[in-house]
Amino acid sequence: MTTPRAGLASADVTTVRLDSTAPASIDTDALIIGIHSGPDGPRPASGAEGLDEALGGKLAATLGALGVKGKPGEIAKFPTFGALPAPVVVAVGLGDAPAGDLDPETLRRAAGAAVRALAGTARAAVALPAGTGGETGAVAVGALLGAYDFTRYRTNGDRPAPVAELTVLSGAEGGAEALARAEVLAASVTLVRDLVNTPPSDLWPARFAEIAEETGTEAGLSVEVLDEKALREGGYGGIVAVGQGSARPPRLVRLAYSHPEADKTLAFVGKGITFDSGGLSLKPAAAMDWMKSDMGGAGAVFGALLAIARLGLKVNAVGYLCLAENMPSGTAQRPSDVFTSYSGKTVEVLDTDAEGRLVLIDGIGRALEDAPDVIVDVATLTGAQIVALGWRTAGVMSNDDALRDEVVRAAADQGEAAWGMPLPEELRKGLDSAVADIANLQPERWGSMLAAGIFLKEFVPDGTRWAHIDMAGPGFNKGEAHGYTPKGGTGAITRTLVGLAERYAR
Ligand code: BES
Ligand code: MN
Ligand code: ZN
Repeated sequence: MTTPRAGLASADVTTVRLDSTAPASIDTDALIIGIHSGPDGPRPASGAEGLDEALGGKLAATLGALGVKGKPGEIAKFPTFGALPAPVVVAVGLGDAPAGDLDPETLRRAAGAAVRALAGTARAAVALPAGTGGETGAVAVGALLGAYDFTRYRTNGDRPAPVAELTVLSGAEGGAEALARAEVLAASVTLVRDLVNTPPSDLWPARFAEIAEETGTEAGLSVEVLDEKALREGGYGGIVAVGQGSARPPRLVRLAYSHPEADKTLAFVGKGITFDSGGLSLKPAAAMDWMKSDMGGAGAVFGALLAIARLGLKVNAVGYLCLAENMPSGTAQRPSDVFTSYSGKTVEVLDTDAEGRLVLIDGIGRALEDAPDVIVDVATLTGAQIVALGWRTAGVMSNDDALRDEVVRAAADQGEAAWGMPLPEELRKGLDSAVADIANLQPERWGSMLAAGIFLKEFVPDGTRWAHIDMAGPGFNKGEAHGYTPKGGTGAITRTLVGLAERYAR
């Protein structure tokens, strides 16, 4: 099976299959094994059975000579000189062997790091612990996501291509189902990464909407796109206000999936700012160069809806992509402008760089009409999220503590870091406007992630279960690749939303 990339990235796709052949006999270009650390030195993890014998009992000595400790993230390669069909073994650290089950995230990261280290190799077989369906799925997701590279804009061809053919060695019960699910998840995350990495010159609101329409329809979603005229006539004041400064007008995309046996409906709302210059409240240059990633929330919602449809989950799901480009111009909104949101509430725009919340409230307003059991919005919303939780951990806020905890658990199950955050009532008065129902900014910077959450909460009626995920840091990796996470677009929170839908599915 293949990992579709919606015509966005380079032609290379990575395929994956299952095989229960022993690692010492599999025909491949490189064999990946796991190594545990421990007081008695490194030792091979399960999955690598029979390898030491095939290597003439020299595995331990080889690992020792290479200085392998088995620490998480550690990678060592060595040749097999004809002792087995695979010419190269890649040993990847898994850390200390746990007393109970191995953490699936340890497996995802190890598989991803090893596959990434094999760029330039055509075929790889993964002989990591995969004794259960869950482990097999984790290994497959990690391996597929580690095989990602964004090469569409490279012309010199001197970058080693990702592994093209992956074989996961597993005879686990439920392995085939787990592999199929892994492929669906990886395809969605890959597409989201491509969208985030695509420069804003090639991804503007109408283009994103076109891709959503094409790919969404193919996946069996019903897709509806509101253009700038429909948005103006429909009263979507926030999306219109944010988009009005750009020569490339805004869009609101609605993606809907339903299952005849479903008894729950989820609504996801994503911030889709295809470029955030800040608008007239212009960002400094150093804070602007990665703002092509400001559509990562909409990306996650889009990717999740595709996966939910492809998996045929017994749940109803609607996704809203709130798409606009935030630009300064003669038609841009001005600080101190007031607009009427979809809900009818008026908003004073004190800072045009606090634009995400303005498009989200219209998406939330429209989502309420679907009478969902739960609304979750996802957004690269505030720099304050990064101040509070760092680059890799998303902040989760909610008007319902149980829902907040559920979202955090859904993220943890997928190995996505997220942490519950409060919505302190006392922050509301900082959003009082001198002229309108509410202002889009509090006068002080402290607690800005929470104030943004409080702003959104004002547009959610009592009794509607709503959660907000601020993924400003996790959406884009400015640092080096790690585990299965590449540099640049990460596709963060896509899998969390799918996992949440699985929790609500029958
Ligand atoms: N898109 C940014 C937030 C952001 C910052 C995302 C860094 C990813 C990395 C958002 O639109 C923004 O500009 N937020 C402002 C809000 C402020 C004006 C209240 C911020 O966080 O500085
Ligand atoms: Mn902004
Ligand atoms: Zn933004």
